Amino acid sequence: CMFEFWLLLCAYLLGSFSSAVLVCRAMGLPDPRQSGSGNPGATNVLRTGGREAAILTLAGDLGKGSLAVLLALLSGASLQLQGWCLLAAVCGHLFPFFSSLRGGKGVATTLGAMLVLHWPLALIQLACWGILFGLSRISSLASIATALLTPLFCLLLLPELIWSISITCLLLLLRHSSNLRKLISGREHRF
Ligand code: G3P
Repeated sequence: CMFEFWLLLCAYLLGSFSSAVLVCRAMGLPDPRQSGSGNPGATNVLRTGGREAAILTLAGDLGKGSLAVLLALLSGASLQLQGWCLLAAVCGHLFPFFSSLRGGKGVATTLGAMLVLHWPLALIQLACWGILFGLSRISSLASIATALLTPLFCLLLLPELIWSISITCLLLLLRHSSNLRKLISGREHRF
């Protein structure tokens, strides 16, 4: 039981590091929480800080998600527990301990964790996001639709993890409620 507790705590703390905030601070760019959509994620850093900072943010958030599951995998955790570590890392990103629980939306963190947990499912998510973004040029629309479809992909490829993955997707969707409102009223940012 202590083993599970420490792994989940590590995953949560790893997820808590905000790549967007750290990258922008290091590069002397505006705080993404104070500009653009106000979201500390790669999409908003692309808007407010440019391509290089966005790539670093994306790499950091993918990396911390991957690391959280890799740590569980290398410690001999069961697949179930690895799934809960994915959720814990995303919770860290969404509700970071170090930034008064105000974090991002969890898309890159989820993908990074999924790449280690089950890479075929991660590639399907990536393809789904990429196609929808390519068609719409709206990052949030691609993220929302991918989060809606992921439980279905999971049922087909990884049914044993349906709970941890579906809860993660639900949190992602709740985090995109402001985007959903903007999409409906036609005010969402494009690229
Ligand atoms: O990954 C976050 C994206 O789906 C939306 O970000 O900054 O457009 O609210 P943003």
